[in-house]
Amino acid sequence: MSEFERTFVMVKPDAFARGLLGEVVTRLEDRGLKLVGIKVINLSEKRAKEHYAEHEDKPFFDDLIEFITAGPVVPMVWEGQDAVRQVRQMIGATDPLEAAPGTIRGDHGLDLGRNIVHAADHEDEGANEREIAIHFEADELIEYEQHDAEWLYE
Ligand code: RTP
Ligand code: MG
Repeated sequence: MSEFERTFVMVKPDAFARGLLGEVVTRLEDRGLKLVGIKVINLSEKRAKEHYAEHEDKPFFDDLIEFITAGPVVPMVWEGQDAVRQVRQMIGATDPLEAAPGTIRGDHGLDLGRNIVHAADHEDEGANEREIAIHFEADELIEYEQHDAEWLYE
């Protein structure tokens, strides 16, 4: 079943430092997704640990927190039909070596620990709304009409 929904996406410090913010935003815009929230921020250690709480027992957790707090990140909320699955398809597999060419990770990354972008996981029920709540206040998400919606959706 198709679902009209929001998803959480975050440009990671590697991509921000490499000037790939615009590339990521352009791909999501070009797909037809609607941007409803965006900011540039240095994540606190506390917020980073909350964001990646599901991985706190993993051996890579400390490195992951160090990396994600090492420079500016760009949390975003995008809206659209099946937005969670659409964006996960677009970012590609976690390890850029496995990510198909044409995906964001498959076109712009090489290393598992420097994989450009985060997106809420469709296999983790409710991850999208949970992550939006970690990174955004309600009044930071805006409402407006997407002018080309009638040509994007049947
Ligand atoms: P993300 O949460 O960042 O969007 O990535 P993901 O869903 O594709 O992958 P996930 O399993 O949630 O892993 C989160 C991040 O941890 C790093 N990682 N390292 N050394 C390792 O085995 C390992 N496994 C995962 C990756 O940087 C991954 O993006
Ligand atoms: Mg994940």
